[in-house]
Amino acid sequence: MRNIFFLFGALLLVDVVFGVAVTVMEGDSVTLKPHTVIPEGEGDSAQWKFGELIIARINKAKGRFSTSEGDNVGFKGRLKLDNQTGSLTITNIRTDHAGLYTLKISGTTETSETFSVTVSDNVKSLSVTEGDTVTLHTGVTDIQRDDQIQWKFGDQDLNGPDDTRWRNIHRNNETGEITIRNIQRNQSGDYELEINTTSVILHRKLHINISGE
Ligand SMILES: *[C@@H]1O[C@H](CO)[C@@H](O)[C@H](O)[C@H]1NC(C)=O
Ligand SMILES: *[C@@H]1O[C@H](CO)[C@@H](O)[C@H](O)[C@H]1NC(C)=O
Ligand SMILES: *[C@@H]1O[C@H](CO)[C@@H](O)[C@H](O)[C@H]1NC(C)=O
Ligand SMILES: *[C@@H]1O[C@H](CO)[C@@H](O)[C@H](O)[C@H]1NC(C)=O
Ligand SMILES: *[C@@H]1O[C@H](CO)[C@@H](O)[C@H](O)[C@H]1NC(C)=O
Repeated sequence: MRNIFFLFGALLLVDVVFGVAVTVMEGDSVTLKPHTVIPEGEGDSAQWKFGELIIARINKAKGRFSTSEGDNVGFKGRLKLDNQTGSLTITNIRTDHAGLYTLKISGTTETSETFSVTVSDNVKSLSVTEGDTVTLHTGVTDIQRDDQIQWKFGDQDLNGPDDTRWRNIHRNNETGEITIRNIQRNQSGDYELEINTTSVILHRKLHINISGE
């Protein structure tokens, strides 16, 4: 009897931990995507923590998706919860938001997933001279084959079919970076990067300022 009870107990308390590490740049918008489906039962709930602080709560059965606790601990206006997947977006991230994010799901089983977020304070604005070669890195080191990486300049998609206006651009499929050779004046402006992997979505804006001679 005791053995059976023990086995039952063990099945209820399975604690599966997934770990993801991501490096982003200050100012990025970062979405942490859970691998686990958020349960919708009456007794099910989930919470996101930053270190030991609770920053968001989910109760799907009651339709509650709250980030108000995060507002009080340094994330004011920065957090968004996806009400389907439970993914957490931190917009305009700062270096003091670097650390360990944990999603704890409580229901018939307890599951937690951790995301270690490093925030670097690289420059978001580059000043170059016309004719220079400029490489824009993603900063994400383990790009996988299925990851979606999209660069944009205004509303022009730099990953689209070869555009004669962007003949001087070279895309590196392995790293996701782009290199602009012999950069022209009309290529100064705002560039946007979006990376969508199985674990995170990252959105970044950066500016290239071209000074003449
Ligand atoms: C989820 O959010 C969308 C967009 O804000 C809204 O239209 C939808 O009703 C919400 N669904 C639930 C279950 O809260
Ligand atoms: C920039 O100007 C050059 C010369 O007029 C033109 O050939 C090129 O298509 C322009 N590039 C972009 C991105 O608009
Ligand atoms: C890079 O990826 C694009 C789109 O997925 C593909 O069309 C192209 O052949 C790839 N280039 C190399 C060198 O793998
Ligand atoms: C990210 O990729 C997933 C799977 O391919 C897709 O369903 C989702 O719409 C993408 N999200 C964004 C913001 O591009
Ligand atoms: C671009 O560079 C010039 C000269 O260095 C500077 O005066 C200007 O403020 C810069 N513009 C932006 C948008 O950074």
